[in-house]
Amino acid sequence: MKNQMVKMLVVVVALLAGVSAWAMSDKQRAEIESRIAPAGQVCLQGDSSCGAAVAAAGGAAKSGEEVYKSSCQGCHAVGAGGAPKLGDAADWAARTSKGIDAVYDNAIKGFSNIGMMPAMGLCMSCSDEEVMAAVDYLVENSK
Ligand code: HEC
Repeated sequence: MKNQMVKMLVVVVALLAGVSAWAMSDKQRAEIESRIAPAGQVCLQGDSSCGAAVAAAGGAAKSGEEVYKSSCQGCHAVGAGGAPKLGDAADWAARTSKGIDAVYDNAIKGFSNIGMMPAMGLCMSCSDEEVMAAVDYLVENSK
């Protein structure tokens, strides 16, 4: 008899648990799912489904022209502090004569000969490739 009572109780408890899970609304279920979702999602660069944060942090590389306009032209449009001016073929030819890799290197690491070229042209959010693209833009438009 006692045994039967225990069995009944187990059945009742099981039923209640089942009913409460079944009675959950879609909203409650969504809330629980969002609570147990893993914290932090991995967003790959270029993946637009993760929203604007990734586009801002990485996203598509800026073109040489974009980098030039946002970071380099302040000095290189007017030749501030001895910066080789955009369009000054003679100045740029003298600089590229040592080889483009050395020129890239000077732009990325910065250097000071007659003036002060800051590392990355002060574009701290730029990748090396973006600075190199900006150098290409300067060189291509100074022939
Ligand atoms: C604060 C001013 C300033 C900014 C900003 C700046 N430059 Fe310069 N840059 C200079 C000066 C000055 C020189 C010349 C330094 C010298 O010859 O001593 C120079 C030289 C260079 C050279 C010649 C390298 C060589 O080997 O002779 C390159 C390439 C260059 N800059 C690229 C860039 C790029 C790309 C940017 C933007 C991402 C940039 N600069 C931003 C001032 C600047």
